[in-house]
Amino acid sequence: ELTIGLIGAMDEEIELLLAGMDQSEEITKTGIRYVTGTFQGRSVVVCKSGVGKVNAAVTTQILIDHFGVSKVLFTGVAGAVHPDLNIGDIVISTECIQHDMDVSALGYPRGVIPYQEISAFPANKQLVDLAELACREVGNGNYKLGKVLSGDQFIASREMVASLREELDGACVEMEGASVAQVCYMNGVPFVIIRSMSDKADGSAHVNFAEFTIESSQRSHAILEYMISHI
Ligand code: ADE
Repeated sequence: ELTIGLIGAMDEEIELLLAGMDQSEEITKTGIRYVTGTFQGRSVVVCKSGVGKVNAAVTTQILIDHFGVSKVLFTGVAGAVHPDLNIGDIVISTECIQHDMDVSALGYPRGVIPYQEISAFPANKQLVDLAELACREVGNGNYKLGKVLSGDQFIASREMVASLREELDGACVEMEGASVAQVCYMNGVPFVIIRSMSDKADGSAHVNFAEFTIESSQRSHAILEYMISHI
């Protein structure tokens, strides 16, 4: 049977998965703990990548190489970039871009990886469609399909949000999605990123993040739970 890889960056983002699954084995690799078992009757591996692109990349490659996952789903929180998004709303990735990839000094647009045909990594259409269905069926709020921007920065300024919106057409910003996306792309593994907004990446982001991360993680989890049972 095919195994699904489920990743969150923080404890809050995976604790409901760990609580809801039938766990069979725990394996630690490169300091990251992978829990195998079943969730909603499906074979899964659940793990916490840790924060940032390098952690997310290593975690994803191990999911693929060692655990042989056939799909990767990422659950967690993000800062809203699209002006119509409020705290608690969901973003489903259509594609993912590393917003901190910046070789503009050599003439490349922001987010573009030099000497590479693709820098915006597309999520799998079936998984996006299923995530959208989940938002309709079990989401209790607004959702949007859009670009997930990732970088090794916690964004907390309106100027930065404006530039992410204008230059990269971002829906939300976080610190792992585009890294997971690139590794999945390089390996030909389908993925989707599901993020619930914990803040608006502005001057209040640090306060909102602290206040809304648990609630937003629960919303993102509800979507994932529905998806896995209908995958
Ligand atoms: N994750 C949640 N909120 C975020 C923000 N404002 N910037 C980066 N990652 C985030």
